[in-house]
Amino acid sequence: MIEHRHVRVTEVGPRDGLQNESVIVPVSDKIAFVDALSEAGFPEIETTSFVSPKWVPQLADAAEVMAGIAREASTAYSVLCPNLRGAEAALAAGADKISIFTSASEGFCRRNLNASIDESIDRFRPVVSLAREASIPLRGYVSCVVRCPYDGEVDPEAVLATVRRLLDLVDDGIEIALGETLGVADPDQIEAVLDEVASVVPVSEIDLHLHDTKGLALACVDRALQCGVRAFDSSCGGLGGCPFAPGASGNLATEALLERLETGGWTTGVDRAAVSRAATIASRITGRA
Ligand code: HMG
Ligand code: MG
Repeated sequence: MIEHRHVRVTEVGPRDGLQNESVIVPVSDKIAFVDALSEAGFPEIETTSFVSPKWVPQLADAAEVMAGIAREASTAYSVLCPNLRGAEAALAAGADKISIFTSASEGFCRRNLNASIDESIDRFRPVVSLAREASIPLRGYVSCVVRCPYDGEVDPEAVLATVRRLLDLVDDGIEIALGETLGVADPDQIEAVLDEVASVVPVSEIDLHLHDTKGLALACVDRALQCGVRAFDSSCGGLGGCPFAPGASGNLATEALLERLETGGWTTGVDRAAVSRAATIASRITGRA
């Protein structure tokens, strides 16, 4: 039997990338970036976040961005929501999918959401209800799956505990995304986390969200593929990072991920030339090389 070697790539540059820029990128530039990415055929583009503008002023224009983009029917435009207020605004803006986000470590959860892990889960309950009423799919991020900038090493069992909390929250399923927030993991550490989480989520259904501070993200992708992962996040131009995770650098670059996957014989349905054109826009609007 011929194995169908397909990987799902979610582009997170407009959200994870632009949340971390020191300058605030104008709305029209953000829209141009998302529109260029839409031409590449991603199944999903994480477009913005409906979070507090006091915490992340870079994305205070979320509703305007959502209203201005030209949507491709085959692409889901997903957004991050930390609470009910964010979810209501996201639905009003026509988000196709909502991502809630918490952590495997208390230190990062507190800095990122001003809440304990327990409190963050409680805040998500009405978000989940709203999403279900609107038939909107959900993703649940677990950050700091290997290391936390505040608490240090994170045990895979702590990752499993937070994954269980998210699964308990949503009766009919939530996509689990494991965030290696600091970009410092090696392949053995990624495999250890996947092994642990595989007891409750099939590995083929886990999404892996890698940052690339140490330059090991592609090696982690190779190992994750061997373990059975078939969904990755990446960021056009390698933009990215979290304002509440000091020391973290950009996400795994989409261009590098696509090249690695194609070389390995994996299909993604994403047009690399269109990603390159979007990267030129990313570079222009952020002033980064
Ligand atoms: P808080 O200060 O505890 O809550 O923040 P609050 O309820 O007191 O709200 C503060 C102010 O924000 C209030 O305004 C609220 O109304 C307003 P004021 O009354 O003072 O004028 N507010 C909002 N405004 C718009 N939209 C909202 C909203 N909520 C409150 N949804 C809160 C708590 C959760 C709101 C805050 O901590 C927050 O927004 N955090 C978001 C942090 C964030 O976006 N981090 C980056 C994304 S996570 C990430 O990058 C990791 C990831 O990539 C995976 C990985 O790499 O690991 C996903
Ligand atoms: Mg991230």
